[in-house]
Amino acid sequence: MVKMSYVKPSIKSKHFEDFKNKLPKMYDKTVIITGTTSGTGYVAAKTLAELGARVIMLNRPSSRSLKVHEEILKTHPNSDLTTINCDLQSFKSVNNAINEIKKRFSEGIDVICNNAGVMALKDISTVDGYDIQMQTNHLSHFLLTCELIPLLKKNSILKGESRIVNHSSIARHSVRKLEKIYLEKNGGNLGGNGKSLFFGGARWKRYGQTKLANAAFSAALHNKLKNHRIKSLFAHPGLSNTELQITTLKDGGMPKFFTRKMMKRSQSEEDGAMGIISCICLPNIKSGQFWGPGKGLLAIKGKAKPYDFEKKYNNDRTIDLIWEKSCNAVGRKYNFN
Ligand SMILES: NC(=O)c1ccc[n+]([C@@H]2O[C@H](COP(=O)([O-])OP(=O)(O)OC[C@H]3O[C@@H](n4cnc5c(N)ncnc54)[C@H](OP(=O)(O)O)[C@@H]3O)[C@@H](O)[C@H]2O)c1
Repeated sequence: MVKMSYVKPSIKSKHFEDFKNKLPKMYDKTVIITGTTSGTGYVAAKTLAELGARVIMLNRPSSRSLKVHEEILKTHPNSDLTTINCDLQSFKSVNNAINEIKKRFSEGIDVICNNAGVMALKDISTVDGYDIQMQTNHLSHFLLTCELIPLLKKNSILKGESRIVNHSSIARHSVRKLEKIYLEKNGGNLGGNGKSLFFGGARWKRYGQTKLANAAFSAALHNKLKNHRIKSLFAHPGLSNTELQITTLKDGGMPKFFTRKMMKRSQSEEDGAMGIISCICLPNIKSGQFWGPGKGLLAIKGKAKPYDFEKKYNNDRTIDLIWEKSCNAVGRKYNFN
C-alpha cells in the first residue's frame, strides 16, 4: 500500500444542476445500481432517490455502504431504498445477491446499471481464479445481468421497456481488441504490475480490456435481445473526479505527481454521472447507443450526448468471444433469442 498525501482537486460541476432539473420523475421505476458508495454510482443513486425511483444499491459490505444508505435516507426520508450486499470479486457473493433480489423484487425490475469498477490494480486473482479487474468490472456484472433478465422481461412486457446500462470508459480505446486470455482463469498471471499508462503497462492493459468488455457486453445484449423490449446501453464519464484514481494510487498503479496533474483537468463526479443517469432516465432512448462527453480518447469532459455503438466491439468476433468466455467463467449458458 502506497503512503498517501494526495488530495482530490476541487472541481465544480458545470452542467449537472441544469441537467438534473430536466430529468423526468421515476416514481414507478425499480432501478438496481452497483457501486454506490462513491463517485458516479453515488450520484446516480442519490439522484434516482430524489426522482422517486425505488433504488436497490448493490455494494460490498463496508462502513461506506452503511453510511451512504443512511445519508440518502436522511436527505430523502421518503425514498424507497434498499442495500443488498454484493462483492463483485466473488461469484458466490453475486449469486447470494441475485437470490435475494429474485425473492424480494419478484414483481419485476426496470433498470440494471452496472456501474461499479476498479482501475489498474495489481495482477492478482479473485477467489474464483479470474483477474481482479475483469471479474469486478465485467464478469460479475455479466452473471448479475443474465440472471435478472427474466425480471427485466416482466417489466418490459408490462410497461413497454426495461434497460441494461453498463459503465465503460474512454479506456476502451486503449487496447486494440478484446483478448480471450483476460476472460479466462488466468488471474495473477496476466503481465505483472507495470504501471505506465502510455507505454503498455500491464495494469492499464488489463483495465482497458475490462472497459472494452463492458462495451462488448452491451453490444452482445443489444444483438441478443433484439426480439425483446429490453434496451442495452452504455455510458462513459470522461475523466471524472471520483475515488477511482485514489484506489489506484493506493495500490501503486499511478504516480502522485501525474495523478494530481491529470485530475486538475477532470470534471466533477456529478458531471461524470450524467452519462449513466441519461441512460437510466431519459425517455425515448434507443438501444445500441452509448452516452458520454464525446467518442474518442480525448473526450474527457462535457455534457453527455448519444452515439451509436462502434465497430470495434459491435462485431461478430467480439460478441461471440465475450459471450462464450463469460458464460464459461460463470458456468452457465444463456440464450435470450
Ligand atoms: N472516474 C473516472 O474518471 C472514470 C473514467 C472512466 C470510467 N469510469 C468508470 O466509472 C465507474 C464508476 O467509478 P467511479 O469513477 O465512480 O469510481 P469510485 O468512486 O471508486 O466508485 C467505484 C464504486 O465501485 C465499487 N466497487 C469496487 N469494487 C467492488 C467490489 N468488489 N464489489 C462491489 N463494489 C465494488 C466501490 O465500492 P467500495 O467502496 O466497496 O470500494 C465504489 O462504490 C467504474 O466502472 C469506472 O471504471 C470512471
